[in-house]
Amino acid sequence: MENIAWDEKFNIGVDVIDKAHAKLFRIMKKLIDMSEDDETNQTTYKEGIKYLEAYSMTHFSEEETYMRSVRYQGYAQHKKIHDNFRDKTLVSLKKDLELSNYSTTAVHRFVGIMNNWLAEHIMIEDQAIVGRIINRKGYDLSSQIPVISRVMNRAMTEVFQTESKFVSADYKGQNFGKALYCCYFCDTESGIRLQLLLGVEETLFFRAAKQQEAEKEMTEEEKLRVFGQLFQTISKLFRVETEYELDKDNLLTRDGFRANFMKGYPCSLLFTTKVGYFVFCYRSWRVKKQKPSADEKTV
Ligand code: FEO
Repeated sequence: MENIAWDEKFNIGVDVIDKAHAKLFRIMKKLIDMSEDDETNQTTYKEGIKYLEAYSMTHFSEEETYMRSVRYQGYAQHKKIHDNFRDKTLVSLKKDLELSNYSTTAVHRFVGIMNNWLAEHIMIEDQAIVGRIINRKGYDLSSQIPVISRVMNRAMTEVFQTESKFVSADYKGQNFGKALYCCYFCDTESGIRLQLLLGVEETLFFRAAKQQEAEKEMTEEEKLRVFGQLFQTISKLFRVETEYELDKDNLLTRDGFRANFMKGYPCSLLFTTKVGYFVFCYRSWRVKKQKPSADEKTV
């Protein structure tokens, strides 16, 4: 479990907001501490999560009131991020909790994802309210998410026979369970090279490999076969011209994945399925000049 702790750097200088952020971290920490107590059961977890959710909504509402009171220019975009967290991310995470009947693993995962989301959100979006722009990406993914979500749903259905649901566009490298990782390159018709990075929870792979015994180690060939199927389906989205063959060097350990991820992927999306989570990241750069179209050649 990653460290859950308030830090001075989170202060934005607005008392009501800073106090609420600190309290959110305290609630998350309490939930993790509860898991070390044998007396904790599903009911206590459920109450704790309910409180965390309710307090988050109170905080969003207070913060939005403050933004309006100072006529903050980025209000609409900031509110949209709050709404998206409430309507998409929280809804998916809570489904996971319910499916597992509030297991300790699911509670840890819930708190881990929320902790990372909140830390990142405070450092970028909330600091921007008071004029501190720290590394704001300025990369609007909103139009791409529905398309990528449809493709990922198709890939998951074909390869793992389970539908997927978009959870968050703010995946920041947090651990979401025992997973397998793979990176992949391909070139598109328009001269763009894409680097794709996938992290897929192991439970999904066991399903694809039809392995009943979770402890049975999958061979590299099996992992590459399943990742190959996934990348083939995803490639269709990008109208790929050249595919590069997958080999064992494409398979990454958790540390290798994190190191690769830290190089920066403007698109890093977290999805869930009934069987487990997965992450899809991509970045791109131009490798050759675009071929002139037929119209351009005749001019
Ligand atoms: Fe403090 Fe925008 O949430």
